[in-house]
Amino acid sequence: MLDFHTHILPEIDDGSASVKQSEEMLTMLSGQHVDKIVFTPHFYAEDETPESFFRRRDESYQKILPLLKEKFGDIDFRLSAEVCYYIGVSALENIERFCVEKTPLFLLEMPRCRWDAGMLSEITSLARQEKVIVVLVHIDRYFDFNPLKTFEDLSQEGVLMQVNCDYLANKKNKRRIRKLFRRGIMNFIGTDCHNTDDRKPNYKEAVLNLQKLFDDEAFGILGFYEEEFFD
Ligand SMILES: [Fe+2]
Repeated sequence: MLDFHTHILPEIDDGSASVKQSEEMLTMLSGQHVDKIVFTPHFYAEDETPESFFRRRDESYQKILPLLKEKFGDIDFRLSAEVCYYIGVSALENIERFCVEKTPLFLLEMPRCRWDAGMLSEITSLARQEKVIVVLVHIDRYFDFNPLKTFEDLSQEGVLMQVNCDYLANKKNKRRIRKLFRRGIMNFIGTDCHNTDDRKPNYKEAVLNLQKLFDDEAFGILGFYEEEFFD
């Protein structure tokens, strides 16, 4: 099973604060039967150049590489980035560098507000590029500001969607989760874990809730995308 969105790489963003904490997070995920993990540190184009970001990402990755090899050799790890939206993101140079390794998947974090026509057209421009497939991350964060129709329209444009495990684990969201699933706008799930405390990996609770709602049907759909890009 795949955790598509994590902040496990140490000392690079507001996620893991140390190699030790990364190890604890990985141990928790591995105990929840996760065997594919994408590392998605934040990239803010307004604060940093891509070169600086990739240098820091590599430094961070090198810090945990021995651990990954020694203790988590059976997990498929992929480097990527969670790119924060900005005006002009669709013209980001060498955009493939930000994608999940060995895939065209590009993770885009949107602002928490009602998305205006300019933002929507920027997402659409990105989606129409042949080089990448856009994945909007933690779409559950935006439901208070944007109607479901917005996500359905973007999905029609080929944009994929990732939902956070916290949202999926909350039984209060049952009706909305059903709609997301039935309308095909839940393609990946991710813990978006940042630490071992208030934002710890909680994959298992989400999976149990999905199982209650859909039996094994949900895993067929989620498994399709996992197989498509990760096998
Ligand atoms: Fe994140």
